[in-house]
Amino acid sequence: MGLDPDGGLAAPTGRDDPLGAVNGSTPATDSAQRVRLFDRWAAGYDRSMRAERGFPFQGYDETLDAVVRLSAPTPGMSVLDVGIGTGNLAERFAQRGCSIWGIDFSASMIEAAESKLPEAVLVQANLRDALPDGVRRTFNRIVSAYVFHEFDAASQLEILGRLRRDCLDPQGLMVVADIAFETADARAEVRAAWQDRWDDDEHYWAADEALLAFADRGIRARFIRVSFCAGVFVLG
Ligand SMILES: C[S@@+](CC[C@H](N)C(=O)[O-])C[C@H]1O[C@@H](n2cnc3c(N)ncnc32)[C@H](O)[C@@H]1O
Repeated sequence: MGLDPDGGLAAPTGRDDPLGAVNGSTPATDSAQRVRLFDRWAAGYDRSMRAERGFPFQGYDETLDAVVRLSAPTPGMSVLDVGIGTGNLAERFAQRGCSIWGIDFSASMIEAAESKLPEAVLVQANLRDALPDGVRRTFNRIVSAYVFHEFDAASQLEILGRLRRDCLDPQGLMVVADIAFETADARAEVRAAWQDRWDDDEHYWAADEALLAFADRGIRARFIRVSFCAGVFVLG
């Protein structure tokens, strides 16, 4: 994660890191602890992102802007933001006349998003689970930013595949940004350079590997690099 939920930079791993405590726990406990972490982070989240320099969130606003550009939204489109957080990405789509749905497992993040997006349909749910009724429909765009590193490679594919199959309009696009690298080698270089902020419990995409895995599942995709540690996948 690299950031303390209270706003400052955190030790990325180890005893003092709130995320370090989830090591070795069961998935259910793990999720409960992650929810608490994001609940605590919600109030200071926007401030901490604006202050961020370097790994892992350098270029945060540029990355969200890239998601919007690559999504080519037009007024009236339906957009589902998965892991909506405080609503910074979804707000960009709302400003372009789109209708917004959002999912997040943190009640505090949803509350923060609600204040920016009073007309959005926001649902508290875990992306690992079957989608709840409020979002069981199809969307013109499914978007996400800085969420999928929460899931291991198998879960990333399962969740993306399920959302694409069940919730994406056949003419639609999924546009997913995260901490990500063009190649596994580039990822290893950044890991070596930013050891003090790298979190080995998180799962950062290398596009050379991920694009092969998507292709294996019959998913057409491309990757667009935005910063030295972030990029966007566009999945058709
Ligand atoms: C780093 S924040 C990113 C928020 C927002 N997308 C942005 O770009 O600012 C990650 C968000 O994903 C949510 N999240 C993480 N794991 C989740 C899960 N399993 N199910 C639902 N939401 C999840 C967190 O609560 C948090 O709001």
